[in-house]
Amino acid sequence: MNAFHPMFDLSDKTALVVGASSGIGLHASHTFVQAGAAVALGARRIDQLNAAVTALRSAGHRACAVTLDITKPETIATAWQASEVQLGRSIDILFNNAGVIYLERFVSQQATEVERIFSTNLKGAFLMAQEAARRMAERGTGSIINVASTSGMRAGAYLASYGASKAGLIHLTRIMALELASRGVRVNALAPGNIRTDMHSQFEASGLDENLLKRIPMRKFGECRDLDGATLLLASEAGSYITGTVIPIDGGQLLSWM
Ligand code: NAI
Repeated sequence: MNAFHPMFDLSDKTALVVGASSGIGLHASHTFVQAGAAVALGARRIDQLNAAVTALRSAGHRACAVTLDITKPETIATAWQASEVQLGRSIDILFNNAGVIYLERFVSQQATEVERIFSTNLKGAFLMAQEAARRMAERGTGSIINVASTSGMRAGAYLASYGASKAGLIHLTRIMALELASRGVRVNALAPGNIRTDMHSQFEASGLDENLLKRIPMRKFGECRDLDGATLLLASEAGSYITGTVIPIDGGQLLSWM
């Protein structure tokens, strides 16, 4: 028996995963190929991407690596084109996942760090999504998945620039969805809570929130695989009537007032 419902099958699709060298992006690359898609892995660390692509190919999957720094707009179109050339097809799915974090009290946040956060999480994600939207709208089909955060939906101390950048990305998702719905392009966001990755380790190691686990109703951190269901839903035919949504994946944390 096929483990997948046919609506989730991505074997005739291609995906570009941004920020694919580690964490959620690397995991999503595996998720997409397992659903049958051909995948381009994009990030700044090409050595790490090449290693991941070698592993995927040796498992029989279709994958390629592209250098991409979303804070450098000139690399965005080049990476998109390189993805299409290497995969031999237009890109159907953008997993817009690159992001960086900065933990500091609002009054002490440094301008250079604030700039780094906004130029990656908001401006970079904006320009990346814009490249995808232009090309997908021309073809009249596509799915863009912006990786936001529950930090963009509720206030979290020490996360002023990070939370504001993710709130901006959520609002951008809705505007994009509104403008692109009639052109065959769906735009949605994932809002992860606390998912075990390198970025999350930084947050845990900071010791800034001793009660972190207690504030998650499920009393556990999430794993990258906990994003799989929502990712496949938004990427595939199963989500064909879904646009402009934000899906929290947070063990219930948004429900809690503490
Ligand atoms: P991570 O640090 O493992 O991955 C971030 C990825 O983004 C890396 O591949 C990194 O190379 C890439 N990246 C950073 N700046 C880039 C740039 N300028 N151009 C291209 N790639 C760039 O962290 P994680 O946890 O996997 O984060 C992935 C996304 O999920 C981020 O957008 C993050 O804000 C978001 N997120 C993560 C949560 C968590 O608990 N881990 C919670 C909520 C959101």
